[in-house]
Amino acid sequence: MIPIVQFEDVSKVFFKGATPIQALGRMSLTVRTGELLAVVGPSGCGKSTLLNMAAGLMKPGTGSIRYKGQAVMGANTQVAYVTQKDNLLPWRTVEQNVRLPLEMGAHRLLPETEKRARVARYIQMVGLAGFEHHYPKELSGGMRKRAQMARSLVYEPDTLLMDEPFGALDAQLKLALQAELLKTWEGSGKTLIFVTHDLTEAISLADRVVVMSGRPGRITAIADIRLPRPRDVFHIRFQPEFGVYFEELWAALKQDAPAGEDRK
Ligand SMILES: Nc1ncnc2c1ncn2[C@@H]1O[C@H](COP(=O)(O)OP(=O)(O)O)[C@@H](O)[C@H]1O
Ligand SMILES: [Mg+2]
Repeated sequence: MIPIVQFEDVSKVFFKGATPIQALGRMSLTVRTGELLAVVGPSGCGKSTLLNMAAGLMKPGTGSIRYKGQAVMGANTQVAYVTQKDNLLPWRTVEQNVRLPLEMGAHRLLPETEKRARVARYIQMVGLAGFEHHYPKELSGGMRKRAQMARSLVYEPDTLLMDEPFGALDAQLKLALQAELLKTWEGSGKTLIFVTHDLTEAISLADRVVVMSGRPGRITAIADIRLPRPRDVFHIRFQPEFGVYFEELWAALKQDAPAGEDRK
């Protein structure tokens, strides 16, 4: 079977004035169709850059990215992307924001009844029923994330890219949203690439966890997480196997922890 996403020998250098910043080292990674792949790494290691390249919003400096075997050139319309920065349109209500993808490309041609049904379904799924007519500024941070998720799901993409979606939320809300995300994803057959800096979150959710080093980012560890599904994100961290994965991956991650007592 053709892998859904292939990063082959990709690297990326940015320039700050005349000074080059090597954001990503050369790295290769194959994403399996239908998996939930978590990418963990310290801030600035190129995680968002990686997703931007998969979405076709940024070209790699070297190497190539393939989606279902085809080189990604320009915006990849087969993926939905929940970006790290909240990019809801402030002048549109929740309902109008969620509807946005259905006003573009081939989705414009969907019958109006189908559009309405989908918008309502995904607003309901993310728990925003009753807030359809609210504007982004009237929502909490968690609710804005939910709205972004609904907007991504509404055009029913094969692949979802999520960039630290729950990073800024408090611990209880984060767990609740992780649980909802798993409920939505498990059994959907969709591929999900989930970027986070939280190793516990990565192991709780993922089929595979990729650990990246600090800048220039490269892969320092990959592990298959063989914890049974459906998973209960509230309790899974207390399972003995969870601890084994955590120890193994933490060893790779902490090599790049900020200088301190823990640094070898
Ligand atoms: N468009 C850009 N122009 C210049 N530098 C950038 C740009 N995007 C990212 N960078 C730099 O590249 C590095 C990796 O960025 P990013 O992919 O956002 O990291 P992460 O998401 O892992 O925190 C950072 O040092 C960041 O400042
Ligand atoms: Mg980022």
